[in-house]
Amino acid sequence: MNKEAGGARAALPASLYVSPGKDSIVSELKTELIPRHVGVIMDGNGRWAKKRGLPRKEGHIRGAEVFGDIVRHAQKLGIEWLTVYAFSTENWNRPPDEVRSIMNLLRDYLKNADSYRKENIRTLIIGDKEGLDEDLRERIKKVEEGSAENTGIHVNIALNYGGRTEIVGAAQKIAGLVRSGGLDPEEIDEARFSSFLYTAGQPPVDLIIRTGGEMRVSNFLLWQAAYAEFYFTDILWPDFNGNDFDGALAAYSSRERRMGGV
Ligand code: FPP
Repeated sequence: MNKEAGGARAALPASLYVSPGKDSIVSELKTELIPRHVGVIMDGNGRWAKKRGLPRKEGHIRGAEVFGDIVRHAQKLGIEWLTVYAFSTENWNRPPDEVRSIMNLLRDYLKNADSYRKENIRTLIIGDKEGLDEDLRERIKKVEEGSAENTGIHVNIALNYGGRTEIVGAAQKIAGLVRSGGLDPEEIDEARFSSFLYTAGQPPVDLIIRTGGEMRVSNFLLWQAAYAEFYFTDILWPDFNGNDFDGALAAYSSRERRMGGV
């Protein structure tokens, strides 16, 4: 069951269509109803594999394919920023074989960076890069630099990421600056604080989608999602597709975002 819209693949209300026909609602959502920044917690890979009697890593392999599909789908929709949770600071507690297989999928993605450059996709890795293998760090640097000029969708891959660690890291950098006389505590406001996060300069998150049936935030984008709408679905990530993504956007577009007002 879809916890948000009452059906696993929700149809858009008629009022949201601005042009008839076409193969998907992608071209039919009013642009002001499209979120600028979407975050995705890609949960359910392990269960997807288990249901099929496969090793968990097969779920991650399929999950990485779905990730590619969703990036392209979001790009077509005109979404500017997409942040996906690929590996948390807590995921190191998984069996070494599983950790290795997720890291290898990331290596493969980064290896294919040339094709993303052609597709005008900008890739950034957010998280504690110091904790990653040297070769992965080098690849990340190459891809980030190589795609920096791309003007299409910006994809943040959260890798060795933890929201609390990110906030503590920002606080440490600010405290260091204050100690050295480079910053007056009076000058610390929300905008200044944000500029010390991994996502410095990026817009706040409008919508967080979580697949796999759990309804929690799991230390993902704690600061950035302060006013985000949440969309939870039971669909396991490897089964998630463009229509499901559209269903999340349909739900988002029907929400009233008051941002603390009335
Ligand atoms: C959560 O499902 C998923 C992960 C911890 C890994 C997500 C990684 C990918 C989709 C591959 C990433 C690759 C790229 C290129 C971004 P789970 O394993 O916790 O599932 P479960 O709850 O069913 O056990």
